[in-house]
Amino acid sequence: MKIMSGNSNLPLARAIAGYLELPLTDASVRRFADEEVFVEIHENVRGEDVFVVQPTSFPANDNLMELLICIDALRRASAKRITAVVPYFGYARQDRKPGPRTPISAKLVANLITEAGADRVLSVDLHAGQIQGFFDIPTDNLFAAPVMAADIQARLGGQDLTVVSPDVGGVVRARALAKRLDNAPLAIVDKRRDRPGQSEVMNIIGDVRGRTCILIDDIIDSGGTLCNAAQALLDDGAKSVTAYITHGVLSGGAVARVTNSALKELVITDSILATDAARDSNRIRILTIAPLLGEAIRRIADESSVSSLFD
Ligand code: R5P
Repeated sequence: MKIMSGNSNLPLARAIAGYLELPLTDASVRRFADEEVFVEIHENVRGEDVFVVQPTSFPANDNLMELLICIDALRRASAKRITAVVPYFGYARQDRKPGPRTPISAKLVANLITEAGADRVLSVDLHAGQIQGFFDIPTDNLFAAPVMAADIQARLGGQDLTVVSPDVGGVVRARALAKRLDNAPLAIVDKRRDRPGQSEVMNIIGDVRGRTCILIDDIIDSGGTLCNAAQALLDDGAKSVTAYITHGVLSGGAVARVTNSALKELVITDSILATDAARDSNRIRILTIAPLLGEAIRRIADESSVSSLFD
């Protein structure tokens, strides 16, 4: 088995390799003067089971291109099996046609990864579970919920917890976390979004008075959804609001928005390499999913069960 990495999240790839007690594959992923991606693998991978770690986060197109070219290099170097480890799958939010004459870019990206030569895909908290079906190759979708639940139990255990979904679409994810927290009650923020990039909180479904609220979502991008939801929960009498979000996209002024928000804390994972601003914010904490990914990779290589990781 070999672990190779693009440039998108080297610390995560190193941590995964550390968990598996393997060195990272010796390769360089660099740019020509005109920014073309060039990949060179400096060791033999013929007949190897290779896992390429490359979240397709900002800059999404560059990181996607690196992933595709790494896969192509491995295929031409006769790797036996190539798994694209894409902890954050960019373009996932474009998983359906929101209007006439619009693309389904998540499907296009799935096609590109498959055509490049990937034999399998491993991702975490895909924006929509059905994106697995966009691939005609085996695709494992891991959940960060066990990592989050352990952190919540350690830090907030014993408090009156209510798990909150910031929108109707996230209820299944919230219910799964609530189940891991001794069946904590659920609440839902009924959100209306007038324009892309803007969000407006309408009302809270469920009683949050005096409760320690845990907001859970897959992505924080501009931070609008989360910060508005936190304020609405406090306005409804919540004692405090802490957010657990798998993928800290945190575009533009999101870190400042979170830092100045009503949120007690934002907890994200290292699926995306955090910016300096995110790391320096005293309101943001990062949990690692390297052991989760490392264990899933070990099980894929051993051909043992991955789903039993979540029993
Ligand atoms: C939407 O369906 C997602 O689950 C997130 O709620 C959304 O992407 C967050 O975006 P923002 O932080 O820009 O409000």
